[in-house]
Amino acid sequence: MHYTTLASVVAFLSATASLAASSRLDTLEKEYSHAEFEASKAAALLARAKTYGNSAEAKHKREVFAEREKRWVKEEKRLEKEIEKRASTISRIVAGHRTTTTAAPTKTVSRVLWNDRTTTATASKSTTTTVPASTSTASSKKGVGYNMASYTSNLKISWAYNWGQTPDGTLNNGVEYVPMFWGPGGASTWSANAQKAISSGSTHLLGMNEPDLGSQSNLTIPQAVATWKANMSPFYGKAKLVSPAVTNGGYPMGVGYLQDFRGNCTQCWNEIDAVALHWYDQSWNTDYLKNYLTDAYNTLGKPIWLTEFAGSGTVAEQQQFLKTVIPWMDAQPWIQRYAGFGDFAGNYVNSDGSLTQLGQAYSDTV
Ligand SMILES: *[C@@H]1O[C@H](CO)[C@@H](O)[C@H](O)[C@H]1NC(C)=O
Ligand SMILES: *[C@@H]1O[C@H](CO)[C@@H](O)[C@H](O)[C@H]1NC(C)=O
Repeated sequence: MHYTTLASVVAFLSATASLAASSRLDTLEKEYSHAEFEASKAAALLARAKTYGNSAEAKHKREVFAEREKRWVKEEKRLEKEIEKRASTISRIVAGHRTTTTAAPTKTVSRVLWNDRTTTATASKSTTTTVPASTSTASSKKGVGYNMASYTSNLKISWAYNWGQTPDGTLNNGVEYVPMFWGPGGASTWSANAQKAISSGSTHLLGMNEPDLGSQSNLTIPQAVATWKANMSPFYGKAKLVSPAVTNGGYPMGVGYLQDFRGNCTQCWNEIDAVALHWYDQSWNTDYLKNYLTDAYNTLGKPIWLTEFAGSGTVAEQQQFLKTVIPWMDAQPWIQRYAGFGDFAGNYVNSDGSLTQLGQAYSDTV
């Protein structure tokens, strides 16, 4: 049996365990849902704020939303632990269901950060089979960052990732899932999940997410080196490894962060096949994107994966942005892959998974 959400584990246990035990679980689950909802709201605000550019006000907003999200994620984790503790107690009294509970998934930090929690409940209902979209016109470089696997089904893409270790759903045939080791919080599940992804056809593994940003994996260089060696190095030779993904902030963030990483761990650097970068600015500033990526390639000397990017502005301006930068990226041989930010309800897709105008532009531009 496979459970995709903690809530479904709770529902299963509540149905099978004694009523006394389940009523406490119900209360915990309600608290958990609330924390999930609040964290989700903050994550959505933060995602939007990420496209606001680099003004002082935009930065301030990002900090505020990141703080708020962090607080609720912390509360979510506390409740999750309690529910798991409680669930394992119950599993001992429910004969025959032990293995089911021990197989209960633990959420990774990345999923907690990016999963569209408000739609989790309805997501499990909509298991209608979607006709795989033709990928024949998709650029082999084009991927996407998603928070619900079903949101990828109408996009012409070749690969996808969800800041997580498992796809949490099914991608269309021919769309490669690339797992990510988001940060140290995911260490206990990583090895098995990465192995499984490789067995299922993932050729690459993504390293830590924005270690140069306090609200993301937030790692000093020594921490990043230790984290890389402990979790990514074991997979060197088994899959191609993509560097930690950095923001386009100025030093000590961004490309400078990766230079420090390189300087502090030659071994790590030698294991890296491609470098992951993020880019956010205003839609009209396409020269900045081109120069940023070109400079990064010249400085770091490895192929580039642009794993998050968005231009801010009106939908029309964002569409124009995509029509300018996507063909350019496709034409640069040293840019191996890119993934727009992002495949979320209200951005590339509507909540029913149909493409928005922006999503259509991302999908169709070649
Ligand atoms: C980032 O990590 C440092 C410790 O290395 C900690 O002091 C700081 O509060 C963290 N920032 C955030 C936003 O979590
Ligand atoms: C190692 O990282 C630190 C930052 O933690 C940086 O100041 C230093 O320049 C790096 N060393 C090298 C050789 O790049």
